[in-house]
Amino acid sequence: MFLLASNLRNISCRNSFNLLTKIPSCSKCCTKQVNWPRLNVLKRNIKYYLPDDAQNNKLLGYWFLTCSGMVFGAVVLGGVTRLTESGLSMVSWKMFGEKMPSTDEEWLQEFENYQQYPEFKMKNKEISLEDFKWIWRMEYYHRMWGRCIGLVYAIPCSIFWFQRRFSEKYRTRCLIMGGLILAQGLMGWYMVKSGLEDRFDGPNDVPRVSQYRLAAHLSLAFILYASLLRGALDHLSPALNWPVMNKSITKFKILSHSSKGLVYLTAISGAFVAGLDAGLVYNSFPKMGDKWLPDDIFDLKPKLKNFTENPTTVQFDHRILGTTTLSFITAVWLWSFKFKLPPGAKFAANAFGIMAYTQVAIGITTLLKYVPVYLGALHQSGSLVLLSLATWLTHELKYVKKVAK
Ligand code: HEM
Repeated sequence: MFLLASNLRNISCRNSFNLLTKIPSCSKCCTKQVNWPRLNVLKRNIKYYLPDDAQNNKLLGYWFLTCSGMVFGAVVLGGVTRLTESGLSMVSWKMFGEKMPSTDEEWLQEFENYQQYPEFKMKNKEISLEDFKWIWRMEYYHRMWGRCIGLVYAIPCSIFWFQRRFSEKYRTRCLIMGGLILAQGLMGWYMVKSGLEDRFDGPNDVPRVSQYRLAAHLSLAFILYASLLRGALDHLSPALNWPVMNKSITKFKILSHSSKGLVYLTAISGAFVAGLDAGLVYNSFPKMGDKWLPDDIFDLKPKLKNFTENPTTVQFDHRILGTTTLSFITAVWLWSFKFKLPPGAKFAANAFGIMAYTQVAIGITTLLKYVPVYLGALHQSGSLVLLSLATWLTHELKYVKKVAK
């Protein structure tokens, strides 16, 4: 074993390893210490080892995992806030937090402020103070949860930064993720503002936030969540170098990445469905009413406007994207059986396939049942679970490489 070890060490610095947990840096060509915490498998002269940039810093990993879990929670809370129509109850915003009213006078003042805005005037004239308190608290907890994420991210991040725990790559990523958290807060208020403006037509219109801003808010949340999760995976379960003797592995990796992209795209189109209440226009599946292609699909002029402003077209697009995503994921799932993949990738591919069918089933049920709060929230959480599995699969495939037979 010792001979084998010294032989491998001689191949190149990249391939060096030690049966102990750490080796000092190679004095000839490396400047930094290299970690090789585990030698995975050594079989038929093929090495399955942790790559150069593998970071096995568990503390960073758990911190990233906590932040991503908190973002998951914020998305679910945000979805419930929207579905219970609580989002427009707080009519002002302060960067560092609004104060929860503590006396009857303060509550009455807050209620009077709400009465100046379209949601009260056009839809909620009958609302009681007690009901108002309930919707106000929903929005308040959503905002405060977002601020907690900011703190749980920023404080440890600054400490780790000064302790020089981050690799070069992660220093840049951490700055981007911090920027995303800030942007998410600002975008949240920009979105709420669009529902407070006096831009609604007559008593039949429903005051709601702009679907464009809702989609931007949700997309940012999804990007932030996936980046934090990737940080957790990189530190807790680094991807393995894994040779595969099948030349179509590259195409399989491209298909896996495309499926992840499609999950994003379908989720964004879902935000348009949610933003326009388009889940309530045709509540049958697979046909829309008794047609495959409803008559009002291109009612708006110019035609392009239909894709983001006509509830029928928006629902139609979401169905098409949802089923296309399902087909792609099915292909990934079935194809994954053809390769000798790392165990993590195998598991992720199976879970990804099963979750895609579950998510589509929940989506269809949500539609057929006229979007009850619990199903709407479940469907939204399902999209995050699907995105997590896509992120995990592509992470596991990162260093899977084609080798000649
Ligand atoms: C891969 C498949 C799918 C993904 C990733 C996905 C994702 C999403 C997301 C993220 C939302 C926004 C939720 C919100 O902001 O509250 C949404 C909304 C919605 N989706 Fe899907 N969806 C998928 C497939 C489907 C399918 C096949 C259907 C039904 C045919 C469907 C029906 C709906 C409905 C009715 C809504 C509106 C719910 C609401 O108003 O809150 N989805 N979807």
